[in-house]
Amino acid sequence: MVAKPLVPPAGPEPVMRVTAVTKRYGERTVLDVERLDVLKGEVLALMGPSGSGKTTLLRILATLETPTTGQVSLDGAAWGPPNGAAGPVSPARLLAWRRRVTYVGQNPVLFSGTVFDNVNLPLAIRCRVGPGARAAVEEMLERVGLAALAAARTASLSAGEAQRVALARALVSRPDVLLLDEPTANLDPANVAVIEKTLIEAVEMWRPAVVLVTHNLFQARRLGRRTGLIVGGRLIELGETEAVFSYPQDARTASFVKGEMVF
Ligand SMILES: Nc1ncnc2c1ncn2[C@@H]1O[C@H](COP(=O)(O)OP(=O)(O)OP(=O)(O)O)[C@@H](O)[C@H]1O
Ligand SMILES: [Mg+2]
Repeated sequence: MVAKPLVPPAGPEPVMRVTAVTKRYGERTVLDVERLDVLKGEVLALMGPSGSGKTTLLRILATLETPTTGQVSLDGAAWGPPNGAAGPVSPARLLAWRRRVTYVGQNPVLFSGTVFDNVNLPLAIRCRVGPGARAAVEEMLERVGLAALAAARTASLSAGEAQRVALARALVSRPDVLLLDEPTANLDPANVAVIEKTLIEAVEMWRPAVVLVTHNLFQARRLGRRTGLIVGGRLIELGETEAVFSYPQDARTASFVKGEMVF
């Protein structure tokens, strides 16, 4: 009788994988990440000093920037620079990627029009119209506390309200990967609480992978299942959040989590 092979316990599958990605602007390499997996259903918090490459990495994950070398994959389908092994992202793959991956930039852009129209846009693009789509938008507006402002023009919104609209728009299509760049920067605690609650609910509901760039150490600790630290374009630390904060491997992480900006 042939013994059954030992099957290792199934680990979480990476939804997205970054392999040997660099980004250069002229002579300057601003990003150099050997490996980064983003796992289904996790919140991965990314911290780092200003200019360390966090936005660059997020924009590459969103297909808004092309890496200079290396590749990024979504469920195994990879793309990279035109001269790279994986080849550039094809129009079909780009469409598939954008359907499954949503991105909220550091300064989210809302369209003129109403709050409802903005949140509805991803569904309209996907040809999801009718009562089901309307209910999905209304539910999302309820979650971010903006039901009463559905008919308001976006030009009249406060910064916190605008951020919540941007988050609702990024979530309404139930993406597999949500990329958030400083979603609560400069917001008051009440707005921060709504945004964090909405994120947690989303992860519990359909288990998207969330990559959250934040300067807020407390937020990383509250939300991140794993936390990474990027310094000078390199991912110098990555691990379970509590381990990163309590037992950092790198001396720079130790000073960063203590709030000492020594680099
Ligand atoms: N289009 C560009 N051309 C040239 N340099 C760029 C470009 N975009 C970004 N950079 C440089 O790349 C580096 C990383 O920028 P990035 O925006 O990724 O940093 P960051 O970690 O997001 O910073 P912050 O916390 O301030 O948002 C910076 O030094 C920036 O000046
Ligand atoms: Mg940035």
